[in-house]
Amino acid sequence: MNTSTRRRGRFHELTVSDVRPLTAESIEVTFAVPPDLQGDYDYLPGQYVALRAHVDGHEVRRSYSICRPPAPSTGSGNSSISVGIKRDRGGLFSVWAHENLKPGDHIEVMSPEGTFTTNLPDLEHAHIAGIAAGSGVTPMMALASHVLASSPTAQFSLVYTNRATQDVMFLDDLADLKDRYPARLALHHVLSREQRTAPLLSGRIDAEKLNAILDDLLPPSTVTEWFLCGPFDLVALCRETLEGRGVPHDSIRFELFTSDADSPRVDRGRPVGIGEGDEMRLIEFTLDGLSSTVESPGPANEAILDAALRVRGDVPFACAGGVCGTCRARLTEGEVRMTQNYALEPDEIERGYVLTCQSHPTTKRVVVDYDS
Ligand SMILES: Cc1cc2nc3c(=O)[nH]c(=O)nc-3n(C[C@H](O)[C@H](O)[C@H](O)COP(=O)(O)OP(=O)(O)OC[C@H]3O[C@@H](n4cnc5c(N)ncnc54)[C@H](O)[C@@H]3O)c2cc1C
Ligand code: FES
Repeated sequence: MNTSTRRRGRFHELTVSDVRPLTAESIEVTFAVPPDLQGDYDYLPGQYVALRAHVDGHEVRRSYSICRPPAPSTGSGNSSISVGIKRDRGGLFSVWAHENLKPGDHIEVMSPEGTFTTNLPDLEHAHIAGIAAGSGVTPMMALASHVLASSPTAQFSLVYTNRATQDVMFLDDLADLKDRYPARLALHHVLSREQRTAPLLSGRIDAEKLNAILDDLLPPSTVTEWFLCGPFDLVALCRETLEGRGVPHDSIRFELFTSDADSPRVDRGRPVGIGEGDEMRLIEFTLDGLSSTVESPGPANEAILDAALRVRGDVPFACAGGVCGTCRARLTEGEVRMTQNYALEPDEIERGYVLTCQSHPTTKRVVVDYDS
């Protein structure tokens, strides 16, 4: 699936078939996919699903990367989807999931989305490198398993940073993968608060340590494609450093779980007050072939998504923070100001796509098409 053939996510209710503790603060949750929905849950390694639940009286949606590789292409599809959820203390959904989810529960799961996947036409002799922190390892699990199984000549190197061993998600699964592919998988655990024998693998990854890792363990000249997933600052540091060392922009793929300006996301689609004399913006949108219209007062500076949700509850979104791309639509008339974009590729922007959760109309009338 390339960016031009992205499908739009749709929710279906799936049954939780397993909840497996990974660490004291993280779980793997598996959903059974019934045979009639298997086509909807095909995915590429590195993609994510959005989960939707009612928590404390609010509808809450959050995205979680799929941690297992897709079923080999035998035409039978995936009979399950597994995600890794790290508890974010103080977070709404992850705490609820840790305290409540159990086998037999039903939860709404959106069909897989995302472009954090390999662009290579084939993986023969490819060397794929991942740099992950904390729960950022989740898509790496799917990517590494997929890459190593796809070609006997493919290699995967993973630099994975955590505070201490007890925080390492998928520790045993990574060790099993290493046993299975001892010569083709290189695993480098970097622990910020635990002393390891190699000084290079202890302490926080800053510019100096990253450069030392690239000099000694993972020379960029040996790598075909890079995958970065972790906090905003680490991903930014890795991108800048790799590009500074001559790695082409196109060979670096990254996924952010939160943007730097993220805020808790509840009460989307709430009513807005209209002041006397407010200039109104007219927002027209098409979704599933059906056109709808909503007005938004200019001073409210609403994003298209927020206004659209007032009139239709099925408008697609997940992170509402400009990182996941679920709310993508094509702007066909008018102009918008997009506050942040970590999800759309330059070719999508050129073709007129916008993130509706980040797009504020700057003309009196805007028209967007979610179906394009
Ligand atoms: C594409 C994508 C893939 C992802 N994949 C994964 C994955 O594989 N695994 C994973 O664990 N996560 C993943 N995430 C992150 C995940 O979607 C959630 O953002 C994460 O679980 C936190 O959600 P939450 O509801 O628990 O926290 P939220 O309620 O969203 O809170 C987030 C943070 O804000 C703080 N906060 C809450 N309320 C307030 C307040 N009033 N004032 C100040 N601060 C506040 C909380 O303490 C918390 O630290 C992914 C995200 C994206 C976009
Ligand atoms: S909902 Fe995630 S980018 Fe808009």
